Amino acid sequence: MRIVVIGTGYVGLVTGACLAELGHDITCYDTDAGKIARLQRGEMPIFEPGLEELVKSEVAAGRLSFASGALPLDRRVRAVFVAVGTPPSAIDHSADLSAVHAVAEAIGRAAVRPLAVIVKSTVPVGTGEAVERILRDVRPGIAFDVVSNPEFLREGSALADFRAPDRIVVGTSAKPARRLLADIYRPLTERGAPLVFTERASAEMIKYAANAFLAAKIAFINEIADLCEAADADVEEVSLGMGLDRRIGAAFLRPGPGYGGSCFPKDTEALLAAAQGHGVQLRLVESTVAANEGRKRAMGRRVIRALGEAHGRTIAVLGVTFKAGTDDMRQAPSLPILAALRAAGARLRIFDPEGMAHARSLLPEADYTRSAYECLDGADAALLLTDWPEFAALDLARVKASMRGDVFVDLRNMLSPERLRAAGLRAFGIGRREKLAMPAPLPVPLPPVPAVRPSEAMPALS
Ligand code: UDX
Repeated sequence: MRIVVIGTGYVGLVTGACLAELGHDITCYDTDAGKIARLQRGEMPIFEPGLEELVKSEVAAGRLSFASGALPLDRRVRAVFVAVGTPPSAIDHSADLSAVHAVAEAIGRAAVRPLAVIVKSTVPVGTGEAVERILRDVRPGIAFDVVSNPEFLREGSALADFRAPDRIVVGTSAKPARRLLADIYRPLTERGAPLVFTERASAEMIKYAANAFLAAKIAFINEIADLCEAADADVEEVSLGMGLDRRIGAAFLRPGPGYGGSCFPKDTEALLAAAQGHGVQLRLVESTVAANEGRKRAMGRRVIRALGEAHGRTIAVLGVTFKAGTDDMRQAPSLPILAALRAAGARLRIFDPEGMAHARSLLPEADYTRSAYECLDGADAALLLTDWPEFAALDLARVKASMRGDVFVDLRNMLSPERLRAAGLRAFGIGRREKLAMPAPLPVPLPPVPAVRPSEAMPALS
């Protein structure tokens, strides 16, 4: 099927390349002519494992091409995917829909036949309706089916997520559009991917609700980690024991320095703004956002506490991207944590397998090294911030021998405290059982437990 994908950002590019791989004839379009020229030369605007190879092979196979300028909506095009950005607006953090609306207008002007307009961008409930209105106003003579088809791609494993999705959500009540989307995704559904048809508004809501729920799961386990530390339990054991309950599930129960990235922070805020617009209070989502913000600040203080004295100390920072498998530093917890360390007078030396270019521009005052070992060489303390697998494989004896100090703060619990200690390092993890030599904050005294007489505790039955 001939399809145009508008927007060559993260979602658009992955979607375009993967749809081509399914056998469709894809044109990825962007108004940024420079970006399209680079893509035509085979240069990727983002780092995503496997993407460059896939783009090149699909281009070579003649199924994928790139265009800028006039929208290439000829008679053969049956569907248009909208994958432009919806950044937070400066005023209230709601999703800024100006790019989506502009695309709707452009499609309306360029269309030469009925089209399915499939919104992939993450948009609040009601956006599909607005897009439909714009199309009707601009082009009353042509029938458009506006479909919500949210993406659930994770950075770093976006290709695998596209190829084997947990579900494909298609929000439209129009039967022809449902058939068309079923055709587009048939190669995936034949391999077992569930296709879920919903109303359009429900599909728009599913994306936000799913992200807010996952964010809440992370914020929850992070709070439990704090309690584990105080109560001498081990969050890794707690997370394992909780996750084996199939109603809970093991995913997204890894404690860390707080969630970041381009989606969770933005989407939770946008969901809150939308709820406010509807006069509905989402207390759990509000708490999730507040807990995560608090966590990032608390992590900066924690590292300083572990160091004892930050001023003049050289800290080897392992990883700055918001998670492993990406070069993305948007809303990365590393940013507030490293800002706190800088403010406390620490010297930062940074290594990240993929994030160096972004880190250099965002943190220009730090030093940069070409490997984790070089970063640790002569450092007073190590601070592991991103869960890159190569950090789990560090030779700790070599690390200890090359470091000047012995403090190893592991905010992802990647290295076992036992291994760190066996190498002669002082281990500071998150929510681990042994107090890990972490100087505890002053305990808040608990109120005395009032004596309860049996008659008050248990009402009499007769
Ligand atoms: C997320 C959603 O997973 C995806 O479905 C959506 O389309 C876009 O947003 P992504 O932003 O790529 O994807 O990252 P994800 O892997 O979900 O991680 C988000 C953040 O949570 C990262 O900062 C990560 O380190 C953190 N995280 C995740 C934890 O701290 N603990 C966990 O157990 C899982």
